[in-house]
Amino acid sequence: MARVTMGIIMNGVTGRMGTNQHLARSVMAIREQGGIPLAGGDAIWPEPILVGRSPEKVAALASRFGLQKWSTDLDACLHTSDAQIYFDAQVTSQRAEAMRRAIRAGKHVYAEKPLAEDLETSLELATLAAKASLKNGVVQDKLFLPGMRKLKRLVDGGFFGRILAVRGEFGYWVFEGDWQPAQRPSWNYRREDGGGIILDMFPHWRYVLDNLFGGVRRVVCVGATHVPRRIDERGESYATTADDAAYATFELEGGIVAQFNSSWCVRVYRDELFNIQVDGTEGSAVAGLWHCKVQHRASTPRAVWDPDRPPAAAYREHWQEVPDNQPFDNAFKTQWELFLRHVARGEAFPWSFLEGAKGVQLAEAGMRSWREGRRVDLPDLSL
Ligand SMILES: NC(=O)c1ccc[n+]([C@@H]2O[C@H](COP(=O)([O-])OP(=O)(O)OC[C@H]3O[C@@H](n4cnc5c(N)ncnc54)[C@H](O)[C@@H]3O)[C@@H](O)[C@H]2O)c1
Repeated sequence: MARVTMGIIMNGVTGRMGTNQHLARSVMAIREQGGIPLAGGDAIWPEPILVGRSPEKVAALASRFGLQKWSTDLDACLHTSDAQIYFDAQVTSQRAEAMRRAIRAGKHVYAEKPLAEDLETSLELATLAAKASLKNGVVQDKLFLPGMRKLKRLVDGGFFGRILAVRGEFGYWVFEGDWQPAQRPSWNYRREDGGGIILDMFPHWRYVLDNLFGGVRRVVCVGATHVPRRIDERGESYATTADDAAYATFELEGGIVAQFNSSWCVRVYRDELFNIQVDGTEGSAVAGLWHCKVQHRASTPRAVWDPDRPPAAAYREHWQEVPDNQPFDNAFKTQWELFLRHVARGEAFPWSFLEGAKGVQLAEAGMRSWREGRRVDLPDLSL
């Protein structure tokens, strides 16, 4: 068995996503399983080069994972032949410039979402990568979550009949940082630092909706900054300048209506932090990150409006769990494996920079809708 070594410059790897999802649970997990098996007995072997701003933090991370290669000099890494791929999980505002440099240096590129802070820059990056014939991809992890894969299975199997509407509920309470520390980084709550829930979450909703139910055509959105002050990582109070909740309706191809609430100012009275309900003529489903329940039209209880009596039925009892029917690996790791196969063997990988740009397009349209108080159309994008 031969190792097909793929050097990956991992920038922003000291952050939450970089360390936990991309390094520990994806790249290191792939190494722990012996690489990604290829036909003929070979295996792709990812060889990370960790990059960050603080030498102490990057060195500590490298040592924690037993890795030798790390640096604070991105350009030097980009100009070594040790790496074929540049991966970026930095704060969103730093991504575009680093990506331009990586593309100029001829690296294949993979990025966290959102690809950039605005659509124009996202399309610029997609065009640069395409013109340089470099493989490119954006993280679309929710597609690989068990709950979403079960939903997709139901759609593909025709369970719903004609899908009428989709309702998404995402969020949880992010502590303000005064009497309990905040569980998300403070830049998320400052627009000038690339924060805001619309830019953060609408890219996810775009690929979920596009891939499961139909292309998003139009949006109407109301955003809010509900919590005006928070406490940052240094214990200092700051004014929040970015939206921390968004209430949006998306119109999809084929007439499906999708409503999504996204909020960091909501307390969870749901089974999971993200839930989607899909209603169709033949049946309905409720999916979270892991679980998915269905109710067929034949087992739909007759609901009768009678406010003068206690509820007649335990409505949740008439739903049935969708079985796993397959093993599910970490969603980020699953997509990493597909991207590495795409680079190593040219296997299909549809989640390109152009797809990432569509997510930023939806975020931008949502913000415009909120600002201007109107529905905003989403034209087709091409390079
Ligand atoms: N796919 C998902 O579900 C998901 C979830 C959360 C965040 N994200 C995305 O991942 C990216 C990183 O988010 P995170 O939550 O890990 O953030 P984080 O604050 O925990 O980490 C940010 C990383 O960027 C680096 N960085 C580089 N320049 C910086 C600067 N000028 N200021 C601050 N940090 C700088 C930091 O050193 C750190 O390594 C963001 O683009 C975010 O949108 C994706």
